Amino acid sequence: MDGSQFDRLFDDGVHFKIGNMDVEVMHTPGHTPACVTYVMGNSAFIGDTLFMPDFGTARADFPGGSATDLYHSIQKILALPDETTLYLCHDYKAPGRDEFCWQTTVAEQKASNVHVGGGKTEEEFVSFKTARDAQLSMPKLIIPSIQVNMRAGQLPPAEEDGEVYLKVPINRL
Ligand SMILES: [Fe+2]
Repeated sequence: MDGSQFDRLFDDGVHFKIGNMDVEVMHTPGHTPACVTYVMGNSAFIGDTLFMPDFGTARADFPGGSATDLYHSIQKILALPDETTLYLCHDYKAPGRDEFCWQTTVAEQKASNVHVGGGKTEEEFVSFKTARDAQLSMPKLIIPSIQVNMRAGQLPPAEEDGEVYLKVPINRL
């Protein structure tokens, strides 16, 4: 894996254009090591970091994930101006809410995110997150998915016998 499968790789802080719109790339690891946030004017597309304030934050227990990294990534997002609109990657609804949502603001997240709002400390967040993630089951297709995702959707190269394999590391799960 050398990244050549991807059209472009971004370092933290680089800018690129979509048409004439400027986009800043913010590295926001934690859910995965590769997660990024795209900041465009007063909007930010935040991937799997924060979810809606009533649902909380992304899990941090996938391969390469880290609750500590996620906390610091979230602090970078919360350091954007209060009125910044945050666009989510997923919404799962939440207890008491039947409608899907897709956007929120920095101010709302700081005030009321159930995992990290109200000025939660790193220690509080990491211990809560580690305990909560331990209760979640792994998605059924996580192992094959990662092997294809990390190659930008391509299958692994064929092995000596000419066959292509997705592998299951039986001593790591
Ligand atoms: Fe995800």
